[in-house]
Amino acid sequence: MADATQAAGLPELLAARPAFSMHAQDGLCFEGVALNAIADAHGTPVWVYGAASMRARYRALTAALDAHGLDVHVHYAVKANDHLAVLNIFRALGAGADVVSLGEFMRTQRAGIAAADVVYSGVGKAPAELAEAISAGIGQINVESAEELDMISAIAGQMGRTAQVVLRMNPDVDAGTHEKITTGLADNKFGIAAQDIPYLYARAARLPGIRPVGIALHIGSQILSTEPYAQAYAKAAAMVCKLRDTGLEVTVLDLGGGLGIGYGDEPGMPLAAFASTVHREVGDLGVQLLLEPGRYLVGPAGMLLSSVILEKRAGERRFIVLDAAMNDLMRPALYEAWHGILPLGAAQMQSPLSPADVVGPVCESADCFAKDRPMPPMGPGSRVAILDAGAYGAVMSSTYNARPRAAAVLVDDGRFQLITPRQTIDELWADEVIPGAGEE
Ligand code: LLP
Repeated sequence: MADATQAAGLPELLAARPAFSMHAQDGLCFEGVALNAIADAHGTPVWVYGAASMRARYRALTAALDAHGLDVHVHYAVKANDHLAVLNIFRALGAGADVVSLGEFMRTQRAGIAAADVVYSGVGKAPAELAEAISAGIGQINVESAEELDMISAIAGQMGRTAQVVLRMNPDVDAGTHEKITTGLADNKFGIAAQDIPYLYARAARLPGIRPVGIALHIGSQILSTEPYAQAYAKAAAMVCKLRDTGLEVTVLDLGGGLGIGYGDEPGMPLAAFASTVHREVGDLGVQLLLEPGRYLVGPAGMLLSSVILEKRAGERRFIVLDAAMNDLMRPALYEAWHGILPLGAAQMQSPLSPADVVGPVCESADCFAKDRPMPPMGPGSRVAILDAGAYGAVMSSTYNARPRAAAVLVDDGRFQLITPRQTIDELWADEVIPGAGEE
């Protein structure tokens, strides 16, 4: 993602995001709500998510697929943002879910998504997690190895249940994204090599407790070109035909997620081109298609609001020190990810810009949201929105440096509501035990 660095300036960032607008009085607004009002009410740092943006992105995706006559069931990738309020929005739109842990599965259950509409992915599902999910009637388990196939067969068999499984194929395709989020190369830990699939699928068809119904693949995240999808889906289609040729039944093809978004002012994955790729490569296989998007649905629908603690000068360098840090939004530190940063003040949008490092208070040089970013003067107490943080933001946060977890707010229909209160300092150690304490 570092190499996708965009030179988008403040006006371009704003222009590329129709859900945002700048008002002379109220400053930066999102889905019709003044972000300053949210910060005034709930403090900073605070995550802000927009329900209308999520719904619009879901509908745009399904409309693009519908336009090609494709019957694709969308399984929202819970890992991108697992807040119950977010899951509830996608449930209401008819989405299923893609989960990677019992915790995520239980979140979907809490949010009212039918267990039958949940698929369970991941390279290491623990036996106890599998047993719980199977007993709750999970719809599909995506199997990532021969070893796991046997494990699921044993667990479900013992329970007298039959789990629907699909085999996750590693297509050995380069998704052209950051190496830390590439998952479809032969060297990656994910999936089963294509040459092992026919044997394993046939074996799965004979094992007790499981029923193989299809193939899955997921080649990576933040993918901006249809080309890697075309390659991977062509391989999946060939595999479906190969399995059928040997008399095996294949009724499901899980296309994974990975659709990228524009972090600067560039467009994200072109939906029409993506849908046309799906149509061309797998449209006539006569299988139920599944898609597991996460970032595409929620990334641009969320942001992290933060206040400036102070501006510091050190020789030639200018540092804007925020009250948000890498423990809140880890992506820049972990992947050198580029996030747009907009000031909340209308006047600041007009002010002269000069390069600054936008940093947090955590005691690491990795705690840097942006380097040499052209920024207006940002006095203490002024505020910024760190954009496109709805996916892989709050879910990856920690309390490093004993920093309480930020609050979260949902904007819906021109109003905003607190959906996670800010963690208190006391709560940081509420579940900690000092051995021997209280015994003297
Ligand atoms: N399905 C599977 C099996 C996955 O492993 C993932 C993401 C998804 C679906 C959803 O991918 P999406 O549509 O969101 O790209 N923390 C990283 C991203 C890690 C993605 C892991 N797998 C980041 O902040 O960029």
